[in-house]
Amino acid sequence: MSAPGSKPVKSAENWAAPLETLAGRRLALVVSGGVAAYKAAELARLLVRSGAQVRAVLTANAARFVTPLTFESLTGQPACLDMWVRPQYDIEHIALADWAEALIAAPATANFLAKMAHGLADDFASTFLLAFGGPVLAAPAMNSRMLAAQATKANLESLAGRGVELIASRTGLLACGTVGDGRLADPETIALAAARALGPGDFSGRRLVVSAGSTREPWDDIRFMANRSSGRMGLDLALAAWLRGAEVQVAAGPAVAAPPPLPGLTFQTAESTRDMLELISALDYDTLIMAAAPADFRPAERVVGKIKKGASMPRLALAANPDILNSLPRAGGRLYVGFAAEEADLVERARGKLRDKDLDLVAANRVGGPDGAFASAENRLWLVYRDGRTEEIGPRPKFAAAWSLLTAVKSLAPKGA
Ligand code: CTP
Repeated sequence: MSAPGSKPVKSAENWAAPLETLAGRRLALVVSGGVAAYKAAELARLLVRSGAQVRAVLTANAARFVTPLTFESLTGQPACLDMWVRPQYDIEHIALADWAEALIAAPATANFLAKMAHGLADDFASTFLLAFGGPVLAAPAMNSRMLAAQATKANLESLAGRGVELIASRTGLLACGTVGDGRLADPETIALAAARALGPGDFSGRRLVVSAGSTREPWDDIRFMANRSSGRMGLDLALAAWLRGAEVQVAAGPAVAAPPPLPGLTFQTAESTRDMLELISALDYDTLIMAAAPADFRPAERVVGKIKKGASMPRLALAANPDILNSLPRAGGRLYVGFAAEEADLVERARGKLRDKDLDLVAANRVGGPDGAFASAENRLWLVYRDGRTEEIGPRPKFAAAWSLLTAVKSLAPKGA
Protein backbone atom coordinates (compact mmCIF):
# COMPACT_ATOMS: atom_id res chain seq x y z
CA MET A 1 0.00 0.00 0.00
CA SER A 2 3.07 2.26 0.20
CA ALA A 3 3.15 4.85 -2.52
CA PRO A 4 5.70 3.80 -5.12
CA GLY A 5 8.43 6.34 -5.59
CA SER A 6 7.40 8.58 -2.68
CA LYS A 7 10.39 9.02 -0.41
CA PRO A 8 9.56 11.57 2.29
CA VAL A 9 12.51 13.61 3.48
CA LYS A 10 13.68 12.68 6.96
CA SER A 11 14.60 15.67 9.05
CA ALA A 12 16.00 15.72 12.58
CA GLU A 13 14.04 18.96 13.08
CA ASN A 14 10.84 16.93 13.04
CA TRP A 15 11.78 15.13 16.25
CA ALA A 16 13.16 18.15 18.10
CA ALA A 17 9.93 18.89 20.00
CA PRO A 18 9.30 15.30 21.16
CA LEU A 19 12.95 15.08 22.25
CA GLU A 20 12.59 18.24 24.30
CA THR A 21 10.55 16.20 26.79
CA LEU A 22 14.04 15.16 27.94
CA ALA A 23 14.85 18.73 29.03
CA GLY A 24 16.31 18.78 32.52
CA ARG A 25 16.43 14.96 32.81
CA ARG A 26 19.62 13.32 34.07
CA LEU A 27 20.96 10.55 31.83
CA ALA A 28 23.99 8.28 32.13
CA LEU A 29 25.35 7.13 28.79
CA VAL A 30 27.43 3.96 29.07
CA VAL A 31 29.65 3.42 26.05
CA SER A 32 31.32 0.05 25.50
CA GLY A 33 34.07 -0.75 23.04
CA GLY A 34 32.91 -1.25 19.48
CA VAL A 35 33.32 0.76 16.30
CA ALA A 36 29.87 2.25 16.88
CA ALA A 37 31.29 4.07 19.95
CA TYR A 38 31.79 7.14 17.75
CA LYS A 39 28.04 7.23 17.19
CA ALA A 40 27.54 7.48 20.95
CA ALA A 41 29.15 10.92 20.67
CA GLU A 42 26.42 11.91 18.21
CA LEU A 43 23.82 10.54 20.62
CA ALA A 44 25.34 12.51 23.51
CA ARG A 45 25.12 15.66 21.38
CA LEU A 46 21.48 15.02 20.51
CA LEU A 47 20.56 14.41 24.14
CA VAL A 48 22.31 17.57 25.26
CA ARG A 49 20.69 19.57 22.45
CA SER A 50 17.34 18.31 23.74
CA GLY A 51 18.11 19.87 27.12
CA ALA A 52 19.13 16.72 29.03
CA GLN A 53 22.09 16.54 31.39
CA VAL A 54 24.34 13.74 30.24
CA ARG A 55 27.22 12.00 31.96
CA ALA A 56 29.17 9.51 29.89
CA VAL A 57 30.79 6.38 31.25
CA LEU A 58 33.32 4.68 28.99
CA THR A 59 34.75 1.20 29.26
CA ALA A 60 38.50 0.93 28.72
CA ASN A 61 37.90 -0.50 25.24
CA ALA A 62 35.44 2.27 24.35
CA ALA A 63 38.17 4.77 25.19
CA ARG A 64 40.33 3.17 22.49
CA PHE A 65 37.73 4.10 19.89
CA VAL A 66 36.76 7.52 21.21
CA THR A 67 38.18 9.61 24.03
CA PRO A 68 36.54 10.71 27.28
CA LEU A 69 37.45 14.25 26.26
CA THR A 70 35.07 13.99 23.29
CA PHE A 71 32.20 13.30 25.66
CA GLU A 72 33.32 15.87 28.20
CA SER A 73 33.40 18.50 25.45
CA LEU A 74 29.97 17.52 24.15
CA THR A 75 28.22 17.15 27.49
CA GLY A 76 30.03 19.71 29.63
CA GLN A 77 30.16 17.00 32.30
CA PRO A 78 33.01 14.78 33.46
CA ALA A 79 33.23 11.43 31.69
CA CYS A 80 33.98 8.42 33.88
CA LEU A 81 36.45 5.82 32.85
CA ASP A 82 38.58 4.22 35.53
CA MET A 83 37.60 2.92 38.97
CA TRP A 84 41.04 3.51 40.37
CA VAL A 85 42.02 6.96 39.22
CA ARG A 86 40.48 9.48 41.58
CA PRO A 87 38.76 11.90 39.27
CA GLN A 88 39.21 15.57 39.73
CA TYR A 89 35.42 15.60 39.95
CA ASP A 90 33.58 14.03 42.83
CA ILE A 91 32.01 11.13 40.97
CA GLU A 92 32.06 7.51 41.84
CA HIS A 93 29.77 4.74 40.72
CA ILE A 94 27.31 4.90 43.63
CA ALA A 95 27.00 8.68 43.43
CA LEU A 96 26.41 8.41 39.68
CA ALA A 97 23.76 5.72 40.28
CA ASP A 98 21.97 8.11 42.63
CA TRP A 99 22.29 11.01 40.20
CA ALA A 100 21.05 9.36 36.99
CA GLU A 101 17.33 8.97 36.20
CA ALA A 102 17.94 6.58 33.31
CA LEU A 103 20.88 4.62 31.97
CA ILE A 104 21.49 4.16 28.26
CA ALA A 105 24.05 1.56 27.19
CA ALA A 106 24.90 2.53 23.60
CA PRO A 107 26.56 0.87 21.90
CA ALA A 108 26.23 -2.27 23.98
CA THR A 109 28.78 -4.80 22.77
CA ALA A 110 28.32 -8.59 23.04
CA ASN A 111 30.77 -8.59 25.93
CA PHE A 112 29.02 -5.76 27.76
CA LEU A 113 25.60 -7.36 27.30
CA ALA A 114 27.03 -10.58 28.74
CA LYS A 115 28.31 -8.65 31.75
CA MET A 116 24.94 -6.95 32.16
CA ALA A 117 23.10 -10.27 31.93
CA HIS A 118 25.32 -11.99 34.46
CA GLY A 119 25.84 -9.15 36.89
CA LEU A 120 29.62 -8.95 36.45
CA ALA A 121 31.10 -5.85 38.01
CA ASP A 122 34.77 -5.46 37.23
CA ASP A 123 35.08 -1.90 35.98
CA PHE A 124 33.39 1.46 36.49
CA ALA A 125 30.70 0.91 33.80
CA SER A 126 29.58 -2.52 34.99
CA THR A 127 29.80 -1.60 38.69
CA PHE A 128 27.69 1.48 38.08
CA LEU A 129 25.19 -0.59 36.11
CA LEU A 130 24.79 -3.06 38.94
CA ALA A 131 24.26 -0.26 41.45
CA PHE A 132 21.67 1.52 39.28
CA GLY A 133 17.99 0.98 40.10
CA GLY A 134 16.24 3.09 37.44
CA PRO A 135 15.19 2.35 33.86
CA VAL A 136 17.93 0.77 31.72
CA LEU A 137 18.03 0.92 27.92
CA ALA A 138 20.51 -1.01 25.82
CA ALA A 139 21.25 -0.57 22.13
CA PRO A 140 23.26 -3.58 20.90
CA ALA A 141 25.82 -3.15 18.11
CA MET A 142 28.11 -5.89 16.88
CA ASN A 143 28.92 -8.23 14.02
CA SER A 144 25.81 -10.08 12.81
CA ARG A 145 27.23 -13.52 13.64
CA MET A 146 27.99 -12.42 17.20
CA LEU A 147 24.45 -11.07 17.45
CA ALA A 148 23.01 -14.35 16.21
CA ALA A 149 25.13 -16.44 18.60
CA GLN A 150 23.12 -18.51 21.07
CA ALA A 151 24.93 -16.94 24.01
CA THR A 152 24.13 -13.38 22.89
CA LYS A 153 20.51 -14.31 22.21
CA ALA A 154 20.18 -15.85 25.66
CA ASN A 155 21.72 -12.75 27.24
CA LEU A 156 19.35 -10.45 25.36
CA GLU A 157 16.36 -12.56 26.38
CA SER A 158 17.44 -12.55 29.98
CA LEU A 159 17.88 -8.76 29.93
CA ALA A 160 14.50 -8.21 28.27
CA GLY A 161 12.88 -10.49 30.85
CA ARG A 162 14.38 -8.31 33.56
CA GLY A 163 12.83 -5.18 32.10
CA VAL A 164 15.82 -3.79 30.18
CA GLU A 165 14.50 -1.88 27.16
CA LEU A 166 16.38 -3.26 24.17
CA ILE A 167 16.64 -0.96 21.19
CA ALA A 168 17.00 -3.26 18.20
CA SER A 169 19.99 -2.92 15.94
CA ARG A 170 19.50 -2.29 12.23
CA THR A 171 20.50 -4.23 9.18
CA GLY A 172 23.08 -2.67 6.88
CA LEU A 173 26.76 -2.52 6.05
CA LEU A 174 28.78 -3.44 9.13
CA ALA A 175 32.29 -2.22 9.93
CA CYS A 176 33.67 -5.68 9.14
CA GLY A 177 32.50 -5.21 5.55
CA THR A 178 29.59 -7.64 5.62
CA VAL A 179 25.94 -6.72 5.33
CA GLY A 180 23.75 -7.93 8.15
CA ASP A 181 21.99 -7.12 11.40
CA GLY A 182 24.08 -5.43 14.07
CA ARG A 183 24.29 -1.71 13.23
CA LEU A 184 23.60 0.57 16.17
CA ALA A 185 20.08 2.04 16.11
CA ASP A 186 19.80 5.70 15.01
CA PRO A 187 20.59 8.29 17.70
CA GLU A 188 17.03 9.67 17.31
CA THR A 189 15.56 6.24 18.01
CA ILE A 190 17.69 5.77 21.12
CA ALA A 191 17.01 9.28 22.42
CA LEU A 192 13.25 8.95 21.86
CA ALA A 193 13.25 5.57 23.62
CA ALA A 194 14.91 7.24 26.60
CA ALA A 195 12.28 10.00 26.53
CA ARG A 196 9.55 7.34 26.57
CA ALA A 197 11.20 5.47 29.45
CA LEU A 198 11.14 8.71 31.45
CA GLY A 199 7.69 9.78 30.19
CA PRO A 200 4.53 9.87 32.31
CA GLY A 201 3.35 6.45 31.07
CA ASP A 202 -0.27 7.59 31.35
CA PHE A 203 -1.16 6.00 27.98
CA SER A 204 0.51 2.67 28.63
CA GLY A 205 -1.73 -0.25 27.72
CA ARG A 206 -3.64 1.91 25.17
CA ARG A 207 -3.60 1.16 21.45
CA LEU A 208 -4.02 4.17 19.21
CA VAL A 209 -4.39 4.58 15.49
CA VAL A 210 -3.51 8.08 14.31
CA SER A 211 -3.99 9.16 10.71
CA ALA A 212 -1.90 11.96 9.27
CA GLY A 213 -1.50 14.09 6.18
CA SER A 214 -3.15 14.41 2.83
CA THR A 215 -4.05 11.49 0.60
CA ARG A 216 -3.36 11.64 -3.15
CA GLU A 217 -5.89 10.93 -5.86
CA PRO A 218 -4.24 10.08 -9.15
CA TRP A 219 -5.52 11.63 -12.37
CA ASP A 220 -2.94 10.12 -14.68
CA ASP A 221 0.44 8.45 -13.99
CA ILE A 222 2.04 11.85 -13.39
CA ARG A 223 -0.63 14.05 -11.81
CA PHE A 224 -2.68 13.81 -8.65
CA MET A 225 -5.08 15.82 -6.47
CA ALA A 226 -4.03 16.47 -2.86
CA ASN A 227 -4.27 19.21 -0.22
CA ARG A 228 -1.85 21.22 1.91
CA SER A 229 -1.95 19.04 5.04
CA SER A 230 1.67 18.17 5.95
CA GLY A 231 0.83 15.45 8.48
CA ARG A 232 2.76 17.31 11.19
CA MET A 233 -0.17 17.41 13.64
CA GLY A 234 -0.90 13.70 13.18
CA LEU A 235 2.76 12.76 13.63
CA ASP A 236 3.06 14.93 16.73
CA LEU A 237 -0.05 13.25 18.16
CA ALA A 238 1.39 9.83 17.37
CA LEU A 239 4.77 10.64 18.94
CA ALA A 240 3.22 12.28 22.00
CA ALA A 241 0.95 9.25 22.61
CA TRP A 242 3.91 6.91 22.11
CA LEU A 243 6.06 8.95 24.52
CA ARG A 244 3.23 8.64 27.05
CA GLY A 245 3.38 4.85 26.74
CA ALA A 246 0.79 4.00 24.06
CA GLU A 247 1.25 1.48 21.27
CA VAL A 248 0.69 3.59 18.17
CA GLN A 249 -0.05 2.77 14.55
CA VAL A 250 0.25 5.67 12.12
CA ALA A 251 -1.74 5.62 8.87
CA ALA A 252 -0.22 8.39 6.80
CA GLY A 253 -0.61 9.99 3.42
CA PRO A 254 2.26 9.29 1.01
CA ALA A 255 4.18 12.55 1.54
CA VAL A 256 4.39 12.37 5.33
CA ALA A 257 7.94 12.02 6.71
CA ALA A 258 8.39 8.64 8.42
CA PRO A 259 9.42 8.83 12.08
CA PRO A 260 12.58 6.98 13.13
CA PRO A 261 11.97 3.25 13.70
CA LEU A 262 10.59 2.97 17.25
CA PRO A 263 9.50 -0.14 19.15
CA GLY A 264 5.74 0.15 19.67
CA LEU A 265 5.17 2.62 16.84
CA THR A 266 4.36 1.45 13.33
CA PHE A 267 4.15 3.70 10.29
CA GLN A 268 2.25 2.76 7.14
CA THR A 269 1.33 4.90 4.19
CA ALA A 270 -1.78 4.89 2.04
CA GLU A 271 -1.93 6.58 -1.34
CA SER A 272 -5.60 7.41 -1.80
CA THR A 273 -8.54 7.95 0.56
CA ARG A 274 -9.90 4.53 -0.36
CA ASP A 275 -6.46 3.02 0.44
CA MET A 276 -6.47 4.78 3.80
CA LEU A 277 -9.94 3.44 4.58
CA GLU A 278 -8.79 -0.08 3.73
CA LEU A 279 -5.65 0.34 5.84
CA ILE A 280 -7.45 1.66 8.92
CA SER A 281 -10.24 -0.93 8.62
CA ALA A 282 -7.65 -3.68 9.04
CA LEU A 283 -6.13 -2.19 12.22
CA ASP A 284 -7.00 -2.95 15.80
CA TYR A 285 -7.17 -0.10 18.35
CA ASP A 286 -9.03 1.32 21.30
CA THR A 287 -8.73 4.94 20.13
CA LEU A 288 -8.79 6.33 16.61
CA ILE A 289 -7.62 9.89 16.03
CA MET A 290 -8.35 11.01 12.48
CA ALA A 291 -5.91 13.89 12.04
CA ALA A 292 -5.50 13.17 8.33
CA ALA A 293 -7.04 15.35 5.66
CA PRO A 294 -8.20 12.64 3.26
CA ALA A 295 -9.18 13.95 -0.16
CA ASP A 296 -12.97 14.15 -0.45
CA PHE A 297 -12.98 13.90 -4.25
CA ARG A 298 -11.00 12.03 -6.87
CA PRO A 299 -10.73 12.24 -10.63
CA ALA A 300 -13.60 10.05 -11.83
CA GLU A 301 -11.39 8.50 -14.45
CA ARG A 302 -7.82 7.35 -13.82
CA VAL A 303 -5.92 7.85 -17.06
CA VAL A 304 -3.09 5.44 -17.86
CA GLY A 305 0.11 7.18 -18.98
CA LYS A 306 0.56 10.96 -19.22
CA ILE A 307 -2.19 13.21 -20.52
CA LYS A 308 -0.51 15.22 -23.28
CA LYS A 309 -1.17 18.83 -24.16
CA GLY A 310 -3.33 18.62 -27.24
CA ALA A 311 -5.58 20.74 -29.29
CA SER A 312 -8.42 20.45 -26.78
CA MET A 313 -8.41 21.05 -23.02
CA PRO A 314 -8.67 17.79 -21.01
CA ARG A 315 -11.88 17.45 -19.00
CA LEU A 316 -11.65 16.57 -15.32
CA ALA A 317 -14.77 14.99 -13.85
CA LEU A 318 -14.75 14.23 -10.12
CA ALA A 319 -16.19 11.39 -8.07
CA ALA A 320 -16.90 11.42 -4.31
CA ASN A 321 -14.56 9.52 -1.99
CA PRO A 322 -15.88 7.62 1.01
CA ASP A 323 -15.78 9.42 4.36
CA ILE A 324 -13.43 7.24 6.40
CA LEU A 325 -14.91 8.09 9.80
CA ASN A 326 -18.43 7.46 8.52
CA SER A 327 -17.48 4.20 6.83
CA LEU A 328 -15.91 2.51 9.86
CA PRO A 329 -18.42 0.44 11.82
CA ARG A 330 -18.58 1.66 15.45
CA ALA A 331 -17.25 -0.80 18.01
CA GLY A 332 -18.20 -0.52 21.68
CA GLY A 333 -15.39 0.48 24.00
CA ARG A 334 -13.58 2.43 21.29
CA LEU A 335 -13.00 6.16 21.19
CA TYR A 336 -13.35 8.09 17.92
CA VAL A 337 -11.70 11.49 17.70
CA GLY A 338 -12.01 13.67 14.62
CA PHE A 339 -10.68 16.99 13.43
CA ALA A 340 -12.64 19.72 11.71
CA ALA A 341 -10.78 21.84 9.18
CA GLU A 342 -12.83 25.03 8.94
CA GLU A 343 -12.52 28.59 7.73
CA ALA A 344 -15.30 30.02 9.95
CA ASP A 345 -17.88 29.09 12.63
CA LEU A 346 -15.43 26.55 14.02
CA VAL A 347 -17.23 25.41 17.17
CA GLU A 348 -20.63 25.22 15.51
CA ARG A 349 -19.33 23.19 12.58
CA ALA A 350 -17.28 20.96 14.89
CA ARG A 351 -20.55 20.22 16.77
CA GLY A 352 -22.16 19.26 13.46
CA LYS A 353 -19.28 16.92 12.56
CA LEU A 354 -19.32 15.33 16.02
CA ARG A 355 -23.02 14.56 15.58
CA ASP A 356 -22.92 13.53 11.91
CA LYS A 357 -19.83 11.32 12.27
CA ASP A 358 -20.77 9.90 15.71
CA LEU A 359 -17.56 11.06 17.42
CA ASP A 360 -16.49 11.37 21.05
CA LEU A 361 -14.38 14.48 20.53
CA VAL A 362 -13.72 16.89 17.68
CA ALA A 363 -10.76 19.26 17.46
CA ALA A 364 -11.55 22.13 15.14
CA ASN A 365 -8.72 24.11 13.60
CA ARG A 366 -8.68 26.99 11.20
CA VAL A 367 -7.57 26.35 7.65
CA GLY A 368 -6.81 28.85 4.94
CA GLY A 369 -5.45 32.35 5.49
CA PRO A 370 -2.03 33.34 6.85
CA ASP A 371 -2.53 31.64 10.25
CA GLY A 372 -4.09 28.43 8.87
CA ALA A 373 -3.20 25.13 10.53
CA PHE A 374 -2.05 23.25 7.43
CA ALA A 375 1.71 23.10 7.03
CA SER A 376 2.18 25.52 9.93
CA ALA A 377 4.40 24.99 13.00
CA GLU A 378 1.69 26.15 15.43
CA ASN A 379 -1.90 25.22 15.96
CA ARG A 380 -4.92 26.49 17.85
CA LEU A 381 -7.65 23.98 18.61
CA TRP A 382 -11.27 24.35 19.65
CA LEU A 383 -12.38 21.12 21.28
CA VAL A 384 -15.98 19.99 21.30
CA TYR A 385 -16.87 17.02 23.50
CA ARG A 386 -19.79 14.62 23.07
CA ASP A 387 -21.41 16.01 26.25
CA GLY A 388 -21.43 19.50 24.72
CA ARG A 389 -18.44 20.91 26.63
CA THR A 390 -15.97 23.05 24.73
CA GLU A 391 -12.34 23.89 25.42
CA GLU A 392 -9.66 25.95 23.70
CA ILE A 393 -6.01 24.94 23.23
CA GLY A 394 -3.24 27.28 22.11
CA PRO A 395 -2.12 28.72 19.85
CA ARG A 396 1.02 26.76 20.63
CA PRO A 397 3.58 24.62 18.78
CA LYS A 398 1.90 21.59 17.26
CA PHE A 399 3.63 19.11 19.56
CA ALA A 400 2.44 21.00 22.66
CA ALA A 401 -1.07 21.27 21.17
CA ALA A 402 -0.98 17.51 20.47
CA TRP A 403 0.06 16.82 24.08
CA SER A 404 -2.91 18.88 25.38
CA LEU A 405 -5.32 17.19 22.99
CA LEU A 406 -4.16 13.79 24.28
CA THR A 407 -4.80 14.94 27.84
CA ALA A 408 -8.37 15.70 26.71
CA VAL A 409 -8.61 12.24 25.07
CA LYS A 410 -7.40 10.63 28.28
CA SER A 411 -10.26 12.23 30.20
CA LEU A 412 -12.83 10.44 28.01
CA ALA A 413 -14.45 7.17 28.93
CA PRO A 414 -15.23 5.06 25.85
CA LYS A 415 -18.91 4.76 25.00
CA GLY A 416 -20.31 1.39 26.11
CA ALA A 417 -17.10 0.47 27.95
N1 CTP B 1 -12.46 12.61 7.17
C1 CTP B 1 -12.65 11.29 6.85
N2 CTP B 1 -12.82 10.93 5.54
C2 CTP B 1 -12.84 11.86 4.58
C3 CTP B 1 -12.68 13.23 4.90
C4 CTP B 1 -12.49 13.57 6.22
O1 CTP B 1 -12.63 10.43 7.75
N3 CTP B 1 -13.02 11.49 3.32
C5 CTP B 1 -12.24 12.96 8.60
C6 CTP B 1 -11.03 13.85 8.84
O2 CTP B 1 -9.88 13.07 9.11
C7 CTP B 1 -11.47 14.63 10.06
C8 CTP B 1 -12.98 14.74 9.91
O3 CTP B 1 -13.36 13.70 9.01
O4 CTP B 1 -11.20 13.95 11.27
C9 CTP B 1 -13.44 16.06 9.35
O5 CTP B 1 -12.74 16.36 8.17
P1 CTP B 1 -12.91 17.77 7.44
O6 CTP B 1 -11.99 17.84 6.29
O7 CTP B 1 -12.88 18.87 8.45
O8 CTP B 1 -14.41 17.75 6.93
P2 CTP B 1 -15.19 16.89 5.92
O9 CTP B 1 -15.91 15.82 6.66
O10 CTP B 1 -14.31 16.45 4.80
O11 CTP B 1 -16.28 17.94 5.40
P3 CTP B 1 -16.05 19.39 4.74
O12 CTP B 1 -14.86 19.22 3.81
O13 CTP B 1 -17.30 19.63 4.02
O14 CTP B 1 -15.81 20.37 5.83
